[in-house]
Amino acid sequence: MTRDEIAREAADADGLVSMLFDPIDAELIARLPRLKVIANVAVGVNNVDLAAARGRKIAVCNTPGVLTDATADLTMALVLSLARRLREGERLLRSGAFDGWSPSLLLGAELRGRTLGLFGFGRIGRAVAERAKAFGMEIVTHTRTAPALDAVLACDVVSLHAPLTPETRHAIDEKALARMKPTAFLINTARGPLVDEAALVRALESRTIAGAALDVFEDEPRVHPGLLGRDDVVLLPHLGSATRETREAMARLALSGCFAVLTGKTPGNLV
Ligand code: DGY
Repeated sequence: MTRDEIAREAADADGLVSMLFDPIDAELIARLPRLKVIANVAVGVNNVDLAAARGRKIAVCNTPGVLTDATADLTMALVLSLARRLREGERLLRSGAFDGWSPSLLLGAELRGRTLGLFGFGRIGRAVAERAKAFGMEIVTHTRTAPALDAVLACDVVSLHAPLTPETRHAIDEKALARMKPTAFLINTARGPLVDEAALVRALESRTIAGAALDVFEDEPRVHPGLLGRDDVVLLPHLGSATRETREAMARLALSGCFAVLTGKTPGNLV
């Protein structure tokens, strides 16, 4: 819905259940005089102006926890799809060009012994680490309180799991990409603007890094045209939490937060 549609439909609402691309900014909040709670059906709340909500004493709820496993599973699927060249293999087969097993056809990389750098180590980062360890990977982490960006950028796979904030916007820019290995892969299942997409395209073109797998985009749903035709890139339409179980749990959790606030309780999923 556009800002105007939300303002019209929710004009006399006490609670608002929002989706992650609804622009719940100061202007919209000012147009909803009765609002007491915003329940965002997402763990990320970068679409909500938290300061404007706080200024009006409007509670904000999100959906932490319930999408951790689904997003971590998808992250591993992306790591594997790059390491084992699934996209190229599938394309070759569907094109009719596969003419039999060959000892050197589409050789990829094994995960055991390789390093996984996690930019952000909250619930989802930890769940990815748990899975990657089962594949024999070594984990390196960078967090706000324990920064180790250089060590993370030196890893074989760099995976992003931080919220989008003014500090994390374009965390992966030209300079960061230049510090990665030419054999490294970049994975983003967090928020698109963490990566400077134009810089990423240049890094792929110049073989500064070996590949990228993106579930989120800087100007979503638009994808940088320089990414679309590349075989060293895997692109998904924001499917991190897209399992039936998780989406139902997200909807229930957002609604329960909304109802809790409206009945005078403090929900556990208050931001
Ligand atoms: C979230 O919850 O922030 C996710 O991006 C939704 O898939």
